[in-house]
Formats: sequence, structure tokens, C-alpha cells
Amino acid sequence: MPNKFWRVGKEELEYIEKAIDMGLMGKMTEELEIRFAKKFGVNYAIAVNSGTSALHSAVGGLGIGPGDEVIVPPLTFAATGFAPLYIGAVPIFADIDPLTFNIAPDSILKKITKRTKAIITVSLYGLPPEMDRIMFIAKKYNLKVIEDNAQCVFGKYKGKIAGTIGDVSIFSFQRSKHLTAGDGGMVITNDESLAEKIRKFSDLGYTTLKAKPGAHSICKEELQQPDFKRHECLGFNFRMPEVCAAMALGQLDKLDMLIQRRIAIARLYEEAIQGCDWLIPQKTPEDVEHSYWTYVLKLDTSKTNVSWIQFRKTFLQKGGEPFYGAWSLTYLEPALEGMRGLCQVAESLQPYLIQLKTNFESIDYAKKQADALAQTIDKLS
Ligand SMILES: Cc1ncc(COP(=O)(O)O)c(C=O)c1O
Repeated sequence: MPNKFWRVGKEELEYIEKAIDMGLMGKMTEELEIRFAKKFGVNYAIAVNSGTSALHSAVGGLGIGPGDEVIVPPLTFAATGFAPLYIGAVPIFADIDPLTFNIAPDSILKKITKRTKAIITVSLYGLPPEMDRIMFIAKKYNLKVIEDNAQCVFGKYKGKIAGTIGDVSIFSFQRSKHLTAGDGGMVITNDESLAEKIRKFSDLGYTTLKAKPGAHSICKEELQQPDFKRHECLGFNFRMPEVCAAMALGQLDKLDMLIQRRIAIARLYEEAIQGCDWLIPQKTPEDVEHSYWTYVLKLDTSKTNVSWIQFRKTFLQKGGEPFYGAWSLTYLEPALEGMRGLCQVAESLQPYLIQLKTNFESIDYAKKQADALAQTIDKLS
């Protein structure tokens, strides 16, 4: 049995100890924001307590509000579609591309109305979407673009790092992600005014907050006066706990290895499916680099009668690790009670997706997983 949490260890503990020694005064969070922004080559990074809070803060910071519409994909973790609802706006679901499984620009175009204010793109499973066309559409219709890169760290689109193309981008540090702090999130942007708004939105609207880190850059003497006014606007408490920031710094030190490991494991699965015509991998276009949060296959029902359940059972019998199917489409979750038939490509694809794990410590163990996949194909072909 592999060590399930090999990705966190003594390096993170050292930072956590240092954070405690320093009195949990926020210095680790500042350092994380500075280093994260540098790593992505952007001006501003704002640490928060989850990817969901990051999305909430991004839509809030952009000034989107009641009655506005935000275009989102339906095949993603629910937080993408929930985010507009948190601020009274409406998520409008655009369909996906049948090969890349990412939001389809043609469908975005069909969903734009006078009320549309933004598009949230998702780099699904680690694969950036068609950003050139999306940015072109956004410019033409004066829309903001929020990149949801919760599942994509250092994926690339035409040489650009995913997360540096739209107006603002978010990441998640939840435990399954490339970089984990147990939980946590990050917002990045190059826009100073937006960064300040997002920071205030995510931290109680404190007047003293600015785009750059270094909370409350005001002398304590002034702050402690009884007539001091603190809150310029309403905001939430989405601050990243200092201990999580410390853990994320440890992860940042080994981020390149964490990403490369997932890519290497995806390559093993890729080899295992060679010659199989009924398992179709998520398509990575030529000018795009996938960061493989997970390796995803589609059961092609026009070529096989094998069911998703049958595939899973056989894979597990062959020694494969249990894997997830795709989430239900967001608008079909009971929380939203949306209309069936809204996004037909996504609806026809979702039941047939297989999300294989890419986060094993041991390459030998990963080879066994790829072997279980090859044996499953042999048995069911
Ligand atoms: C695409 C996507 N967006 C947002 C989130 C939310 O992140 P968190 O779980 O950190 O709130 C996730 C988490 O899985 C995600 O996959």
C-alpha cells in the first residue's frame, strides 16, 4: 500500500515550526504571496482559505452583482458555478468541447446577453481551455475572464502559463491538488486596483489593506485608538491561516517535482492505452501543456458495450486503485435543480468519464497501475 500522504513531510514541518516561532503574525502568508506571484510572473497574489473563497473573492472583487450573468462550464467542481450565486449573480452554463472536455467558445458566444459580465474558464483536470478565442470573445463583448486553475498548476497555453492570461485567476490548495496546504487558495492578477478590491473583499473590507501583501501597514498607535475606523466596505474573513501558508511554502519549494511526477504518471497510462480504440483520453491540443491533476479517459460507447461499472470492477480486480467518475454537471445537482438538456455534449459525456490518479509517490507503483489498466483493456476487449 503506498504512503497516501507522501507529498507533505519534514520540509513543510520546518516552515510550520518557523511560523509558530515567529508568533503567527502573518509573515509566512506575506512570503507565500510574494513567492507565488514571482513564480507565476504576475504582480499580485492574495492568499485565501480555499479555492472556493478565491472564486467568491474574484467575482466579488470584479464588482459583479445581483442580476448580472456569468458564463461557466457545467463539467467542473461545483464551486465554479456556485461562485456567481454567492454574490447574487446568475451562472449561465455553456457547453463543452467533446474532445478536450473544456468550455467551448462557440457555446459561450451563444450564451452572451446584455447582462453578461464575465466568463469563468476552468482548466479541467489540468488542461487549459482555448484561451485565445475566449479572450477574443471577452474583449469583443467587454467581459472579464476569471481563470479557475484549481486543477491546473503550470499547465501552458501557447507558451503562456495558465492563470496569467485572463483578468484574474484562482488556485486551490485542497489536499488532492498539485500544491496542498491541507486547504487554502490563491488569487492572482496583474491589475492593482482589482487586487486591492479582492484583498478587501476577502478580509473584512479593512481600509488599510492594499494590493500588495503587508496587511495593515499603519502604525499600531493609530490602530489602537478608540476612534479608529477600520472597515471601508463589507468583506468576508477568507484569510489563509498562517500555518497553511507555511505548509504551502514547503510545497512551493518542491512544486516542480510535484507537477513532473503527475505528468510522468500520465505518460504511463498513455502507453497502456495504446491500440485501444474504446478508451479515448482527454485531448491535449498541440500548443497546450497539460498538468494532469488527473488522467481522464472516456469510454466510447460507440465502440464498446463495456459499462463504467464493469470497467471499474475489472480495473480494481487487476490491482487498480479506486477512481472517481466525473462530478454530476453542476446544474443537475439538487442545490441548483437546473434543466436537463441545457448542455448536451456535457450530459452525453459525463457518465462515461474515468479519472485515474496521478499522485503516487512511487513510479514502480504507478507502473503497476498502468499495468492494471493494460490488463483491464485486454480482458474487456
Ligand atoms: C475546478 C475547481 N474549482 C474550484 C475548486 C474549489 O477549491 P476548494 O476545494 O479549495 O474550495 C475546486 C476544488 O476541487 C475545483 O476542482
